[in-house]
Amino acid sequence: MDFNGKCIDDVFSDLEEFKELDMDYSSGRILGSMCTEPDSVGMRAYRMFSESNLGDPGLFKGTTLLEGEVINMIGNLLHLNDACGHIVTGGTEANITAMCAAKYIFEEKHPGVKPEIILPKSAHFSFKKIISMLSLKPVYVPLNEDYKIDTSKLEELITENTMAIVAIAGTTELGYVDDIEEISEIAYRNNVYLHVDAAFGGFVIPFLNYDRDDEILFDFKCRGVSSITIDPHKMGLAPIPSGGIIFRNKEHLKKLAVKTPYLTKDEQTTIVGTRSGASTAAIWSLLKYYGFSGYKEIVDNAMELTKYTYEKLDSIEGVIVRKPELNLISFYVEHLDVDILQKQLEDMGWNISVSEYPHALRIVLMPHVKEEHINDFISDLKKLI
Ligand SMILES: Cc1ncc(COP(=O)(O)O)c(C=O)c1O
Repeated sequence: MDFNGKCIDDVFSDLEEFKELDMDYSSGRILGSMCTEPDSVGMRAYRMFSESNLGDPGLFKGTTLLEGEVINMIGNLLHLNDACGHIVTGGTEANITAMCAAKYIFEEKHPGVKPEIILPKSAHFSFKKIISMLSLKPVYVPLNEDYKIDTSKLEELITENTMAIVAIAGTTELGYVDDIEEISEIAYRNNVYLHVDAAFGGFVIPFLNYDRDDEILFDFKCRGVSSITIDPHKMGLAPIPSGGIIFRNKEHLKKLAVKTPYLTKDEQTTIVGTRSGASTAAIWSLLKYYGFSGYKEIVDNAMELTKYTYEKLDSIEGVIVRKPELNLISFYVEHLDVDILQKQLEDMGWNISVSEYPHALRIVLMPHVKEEHINDFISDLKKLI
């Protein structure tokens, strides 16, 4: 570190060099991320509230009101009136928050018992962190041939040590939605906490459901659902970090309350202390600006491009594609090693990720990906094949 500091132009020209090493969404070459270019409306609000700290709400009363309104709006989207929860850093923190609450509820009823969490192999790796951090015993429910929770095997895994069941609405690897309706009934019948990880699907499924007869049930419409993770920094177009955790029952959130003597409010129900209010302002502005119809248009466009990409891939001989449910496509090429193909595509400038189960290439059709990018990608893929 320079003792006397540097002149501002030098600092920023050095920063430029680092920035040039980053990929940018507008190139259309980021095909493996569940995040996207933050919308300019959200960025304007983000900058406006950049010094706001929701960890000390008495100082930032306006931002605190905004958080309440955002939680209510997201609650409405998920069919819950008078929702409670928080805007957090992302899906990981949202899942940790929910599982902490579930653990405290469980411990009150079963002191001294090691809690068990029933989850599918398709759960995001944040649950590996959670299992370790909270000393939980994982109980893996098998997947059916569609890579979704095999609901016929779920109930037999519930014991008096079951702390929670986790189901996914938009899996990280395939974008598939578990049969939440059925799982919710099982949880309800057995009086077990059910958490739905809709980090990705939360800002997709409600808009898909709008003009479908066969509604995908995944939210608080299902009576057994206790909490939902929903990430505005994925399909909500909000700047990072923007996650959301919504609880059905206010008492569940209260389980997390810790006294905060030196701050302007008596207690906190978040994992972190100091937390930016800028994301909350950004999400608020985006929900107000786009409204339901604006988000529906964004999701419709992403789904249209998903269909286009699926058909293009499916028409290439030797390419095996799984039918997408949300804007995520998984495929592999017969007789070609998935990891080698990924490396070759990376050498051609494509960021595409590999899923573990199934072992396949994975494209997320986020709003920064356009038809011309897909055409270029397909052309490069064909060359490699
Ligand atoms: C289903 C699901 N849950 C949780 C997460 C974790 O979200 P974050 O990376 O924002 O912590 C992801 C990330 O992709 C996800 O797909």
